[in-house]
Amino acid sequence: MDLLLLEKTLLGLFFSIIIAITVSKLRGKRFKLPPGPIPVPVFGNWLQVGDDLNHRNLTDLAKKFGEVCLLRMGQRNLVVVSSPDLAKEVLHTQGVEFGSRTRNVVFDIFTGKGQDMVFTVYGEHWRKMRRIMTVPFFTNKVVQQYRFGWEDEAARVVEDVKKMPEASTSGIVLRKRLQLMMYNNMYRIMFDRRFESEDDPLFVKLKALNGERSRLAQSFEYNYGDFIPILRPFLRGYLKICKEVKERRLQLFKDYFLDERKKLASPKATDNNGLKCAIDHILDAQQKGEINEDNVLYIVENINVAAIETTLWSIEWGIAELVNHPEIQKKLRNELDSVLGHGVQITEPDTYKLPYLQAVIKETLRLRMAIPLLVPHMNLHDAKLGGFDIPAESKILVNAWWLANNPANWKNPEEFRPERFLEEESKVEANGNDFRYLPFGVGRRSCPGIILALPILGITLGRLVQNFELLPPPGQSKLDTTEKGGQFSLHILKHSTIVAKPRSF
Ligand code: HEM
Repeated sequence: MDLLLLEKTLLGLFFSIIIAITVSKLRGKRFKLPPGPIPVPVFGNWLQVGDDLNHRNLTDLAKKFGEVCLLRMGQRNLVVVSSPDLAKEVLHTQGVEFGSRTRNVVFDIFTGKGQDMVFTVYGEHWRKMRRIMTVPFFTNKVVQQYRFGWEDEAARVVEDVKKMPEASTSGIVLRKRLQLMMYNNMYRIMFDRRFESEDDPLFVKLKALNGERSRLAQSFEYNYGDFIPILRPFLRGYLKICKEVKERRLQLFKDYFLDERKKLASPKATDNNGLKCAIDHILDAQQKGEINEDNVLYIVENINVAAIETTLWSIEWGIAELVNHPEIQKKLRNELDSVLGHGVQITEPDTYKLPYLQAVIKETLRLRMAIPLLVPHMNLHDAKLGGFDIPAESKILVNAWWLANNPANWKNPEEFRPERFLEEESKVEANGNDFRYLPFGVGRRSCPGIILALPILGITLGRLVQNFELLPPPGQSKLDTTEKGGQFSLHILKHSTIVAKPRSF
């Protein structure tokens, strides 16, 4: 760093201290802010609470400060919501007021400053994008069009695993094969195409770029430049890498998928009985002038991040819990055998006839929520919540994990016990009919992908348990289920090696 930059930074720091003190004094008079730790100038609470604001750390904060609490992270306000009543207020009653998204310097790069749908503010653009995406992605018709594809992909996983001799002895990292399956499930919907194997060069490239995008966006490394804007010059290197990854990724989507699809003279030439795939609908909207080509590319980007890894993480958690709870795995297998018949492979319509399977899925999503803080919300204007003033443009984190794991509201929540969803919580659904349980959020910005995610989870877990006995590797009694959180994601730290012993029918 040159001396001039250092001088500018120090000067900037000095002035922002003065401004921060003045602003906080003025604010203190005008606003009744939610409780929280006492901030210091410039850094706010950042040095006290650190970078890793995961669901567990935020739960500790809620225990200390209550159901709504304010953190000052440098210049940003962060409001943590930790009760079902206030979650209802944010997501439902005041859904419009709190229906925007915060972005930050990194998300701005990956979304072209909100030209996408997931991270854009609540307004005309979001409404249009959500409407355009609904028919191609989020209806029961899509499920019925593609469920055969998902069943086929799950069958191929079973066949491939059976062919791996080490699967039944030392074990395999099952996730790797399931990742290919999830890409194929979504790329069939988007482009009517699939990748033949884990070694397919295009799949390898795509997976690497998506992985890099997730790592860069979910990292805490760039917080300082986001919280304290005058430190942003120090992020130059990081942001340059983000820009390069973004460019390469969008170019890949365009060259290998969009342009390829456009080359097909008509949808009839495709391999899906002439039915349109999602991107055909999206390109229609572009032709009508409703959206531009960048928007089309950002829709592809959004599906790559919102759909594939979230569902894969949930499958991975489900498998880990079933391995660590052999009695639950056995009970599930018995249900599959007795309802469907020995060796009769589960299909999408069957998933609704299998209450224990449904309960296993719900319990996985409760204890191991893939997006435990939802995607951060934001209020564009000053707002009120729980009797407090929430300054405009606050980042609102709803701690959905805590809502679903608070012992005040759930019986022994730390236990993995699917039976709860057949007994005392039998009325609770994953669609947000109960504000204690919001794995997909609820309201305007809730997850539209729930309609696809639930059957995919059912088919995948069902087929695996029907066809294999899933065990920890030799010498290990349990899988390591240490969690790893990001800016708002939760996954398993170590991708487990799993022994899959084929059953004989
Ligand atoms: C188990 C799998 C999944 C989980 C746990 C999950 C969870 C979530 C959550 C918690 C949100 C944010 C809700 C909020 O901020 O209030 C969300 C948003 C979203 N999800 Fe999912 N999701 C999953 C799968 C999918 C799939 C398969 C798709 C697409 C095919 C998808 C597409 C989206 C989109 C587009 C949004 C943004 C909605 C908006 O901002 O209006 N998700 N998801």
